[in-house]
Amino acid sequence: MVGEKNRIITIANQKGGVGKTTTAINLATALAAIGERVLIVDLDPQGNASTGLGIERRERKLSSYDLLIGSHGVLDAVLPTAVPNLFIIPSTMDLLGIEMEIAQHGDRVFRLKRALSEAAGFDYVLVDCPPSFNLLTMNAMAAAHSVLVPLQCEFFALEGLSQLLETVDQVRRTVNPNLDIQGIVLTMFDARNNLAQQVVSDVRTHLGEKVYHTLIPRNVRVSEAPSYGKPAILYDLKCAGSQAYLQLASEVIQRERLRRAA
Ligand SMILES: Nc1ncnc2c1ncn2[C@@H]1O[C@H](COP(=O)(O)OP(=O)(O)O)[C@@H](O)[C@H]1O
Ligand SMILES: [Mg+2]
Repeated sequence: MVGEKNRIITIANQKGGVGKTTTAINLATALAAIGERVLIVDLDPQGNASTGLGIERRERKLSSYDLLIGSHGVLDAVLPTAVPNLFIIPSTMDLLGIEMEIAQHGDRVFRLKRALSEAAGFDYVLVDCPPSFNLLTMNAMAAAHSVLVPLQCEFFALEGLSQLLETVDQVRRTVNPNLDIQGIVLTMFDARNNLAQQVVSDVRTHLGEKVYHTLIPRNVRVSEAPSYGKPAILYDLKCAGSQAYLQLASEVIQRERLRRAA
């Protein structure tokens, strides 16, 4: 839609270890490097996005928990990162209790949406979800314009995907009629593995246009980077994984331009 201030993208997949957090960190970094103003919201109690961006636990005085509880806003909780133009709302283990704490409230699914009304100053907001369809993920889907799905190139990928797409439909019918699929990004691709090739071609056959052309390769530099508190793009710009995430960012921006022009 023309005139929309920002694009809120939820990065979701109910499976763990498929590359959600890695995609959140590196896509966000690549978008920021291209000159977009980007906010990551870490909505996983594990806090991997926060750690991977070098935010120490003691720095996390306010977090996504405070946003959901409603005690503080985005502008109170936001922290800068080592990447210019990239900001984060970190998470803490407090998030584990949120479900119980807000379960009785009629607006429990809309807590993040309300908080993100304060995020108009960012071009992109990427929400990194936990690996389940819980109240946190529902908040992320209710708040978002679209869902970006990282899909690991492995045998059960398609099965998990149909479950996810059903959930998105359900969210559309109930809390967010305008929720789009932003796209599906294939992660940890290993060209030497025949099965991976097969998964790529199956996913493309089933989902066509929705699948990004960029394939994120399995790359050891990408997996090393978080232990240095850095996005792969800062840790090793030249590695194949970093280059792939830069390419993904330009695809995302290109699609966004087309969508806005439509
Ligand atoms: N392209 C990649 N190449 C190699 N390792 C990767 C790649 N993407 C993710 N990983 C590693 O796989 C693990 C799971 O990725 P992560 O992004 O944390 O998944 P999720 O957030 O879906 O649980 C992490 O150890 C991460 O470093
Ligand atoms: Mg994660």
